[in-house]
Amino acid sequence: MGSGASAAFTGETYGEMQNPNQGTKKDNALICAAIDFGTTYSGYAFSFYNSPDKIHTHYWPPGQMTKTPTVVLLEPSGNFHSFGMVAMDKYKELLDKQEHKEWYLFERFKMKLYEKGSAGIPEDMLSLALEPEAASLDCRDLLGEAAKYVGYRYMVLDLGGGTADITAHEVADDGNLTELHPPTGGDFGGTKVDIKFDQLMSRIFGETVLKRFKQEYMQDYWELMLDLERKKKMFNGTGKMILHQPVTLTELFSDITGSTIEETILKTPFKNKVQFKLGKIYIAEDIARQLFDDALKNICEATSGIMQKVEKIEKIILVGGFSESPYLEMVMREKFNDLVDFPKEPSGAVLRGAVRFGQKPTTISTRVCPYTYGIARMVNFKSFHPPTKKVTIGGIEYCDNVFNIHISKGTKVSVENKHLATEHKYYRPLHEMTQTSIEVYASDKPDPEFVDEPGCRQIGLAVVDIDPTGDMGSRIWVKLIFGGTELELVVRDEKSRKISNAVFKLF
Ligand SMILES: Nc1ncnc2c1ncn2[C@@H]1O[C@H](COP(=O)(O)OP(=O)(O)OP(=O)(O)O)[C@@H](O)[C@H]1O
Ligand SMILES: [Mg+2]
Repeated sequence: MGSGASAAFTGETYGEMQNPNQGTKKDNALICAAIDFGTTYSGYAFSFYNSPDKIHTHYWPPGQMTKTPTVVLLEPSGNFHSFGMVAMDKYKELLDKQEHKEWYLFERFKMKLYEKGSAGIPEDMLSLALEPEAASLDCRDLLGEAAKYVGYRYMVLDLGGGTADITAHEVADDGNLTELHPPTGGDFGGTKVDIKFDQLMSRIFGETVLKRFKQEYMQDYWELMLDLERKKKMFNGTGKMILHQPVTLTELFSDITGSTIEETILKTPFKNKVQFKLGKIYIAEDIARQLFDDALKNICEATSGIMQKVEKIEKIILVGGFSESPYLEMVMREKFNDLVDFPKEPSGAVLRGAVRFGQKPTTISTRVCPYTYGIARMVNFKSFHPPTKKVTIGGIEYCDNVFNIHISKGTKVSVENKHLATEHKYYRPLHEMTQTSIEVYASDKPDPEFVDEPGCRQIGLAVVDIDPTGDMGSRIWVKLIFGGTELELVVRDEKSRKISNAVFKLF
């Protein structure tokens, strides 16, 4: 999946070893607010303590969109100037006056909010919600009565700009949601269409021309892409897609190649398919569809894949900006018929759901562990161990880099009982050590043997002080707790009785 947890979760380890107890301040807060930093669009929503069901979404501009472009503009000095549409408008003004060169514009990035505290919000007041889970919570409101039946199963597809994230949930008997499948997906969001369009332009004009166009006429390229964004939103699968033709592009083409684009295109497979007339680019229906088809194919396949694994899905709910595409809706309805459904304002679903999550994080009561998690360790060398892994310390032979499994992929973990995770004991390899490092690994496989085999990645490292007076036999106990949105490490020194903990991203 994309940062799937692309979700709001691609960060590094955050915090030093910290106290595991979360404050209860969150429960008493007067306002619960959520921020969704999307790759392409961002927004916020909130609710008041005494009316949790009334979720207020901020509209940009008033009454229109639930999200504003994820664009940050910095002044020449490097100071923050503006965010969103304001930043876009200001930059356009600068471009018009050719004063933009010293300014910095950042577009389409995933905000690294993962380090708690980095948002300027006190840590004990901040929770991180997984985007697709948040979307699912919002959809439960849409399902109304149906979603009150225990055992009701539905899928949510969060079709964003960068990624498409898919979750499958079941209504549990306490009314909470149980995850049926770990969130999956991939980088087939709405910007796939933009990429395909860019490739199409490159095939028509040639790479050299397009590259120079982007460099020399940045403003025109920018406006072309803004126009594509508008036309893409309207495309319903029939009729031509018509864009404004940047004059500078066709002129540049003539200057470089010595012939006009109108004539040249007649000699290519795009003859009659892409036309340049009266200042417009006309893209034939089938070519316009092809811009979407890669993304749509991937979305359909990922959906079918989960439907094969998880039976009795009663609804497929589409949310996220890309789900508002009329063409996408048509394709999804053709394939999945009346299973397909949409909430009101699909692009605000993650926002509204994140407010729900903030109000009651335990609503998702059970999650499926998406990877196998464990810790690298040394064990006494045995004859069946590969000789390449043999290390000798203090005259004793050890097998290094063994993957000591704490939680296997596919394990169902209940949020309420997550602290019941099994403690594993580790010994210090040397007397004189005052610190030990704990390397946390994730693997795609259910039963990895070594941490350096394919499919394994190190996801965290914690350096823990150990009692210097401890003897060789003194143990430290380590617990890995899978919480759905993060992995927590709890280390207990048997001798000093000290407990320390750290939190890691999931992959
Ligand atoms: N009506 C529409 N038709 C087609 N595409 C649309 C429509 N409305 C929005 N989009 C596309 O949806 C994407 C934005 O969706 P959304 O705001 O959910 O994404 P995001 O949260 O920024 O991204 P991500 O969740 O991947 O980080 C953009 O690619 C945009 O072009
Ligand atoms: Mg999103």
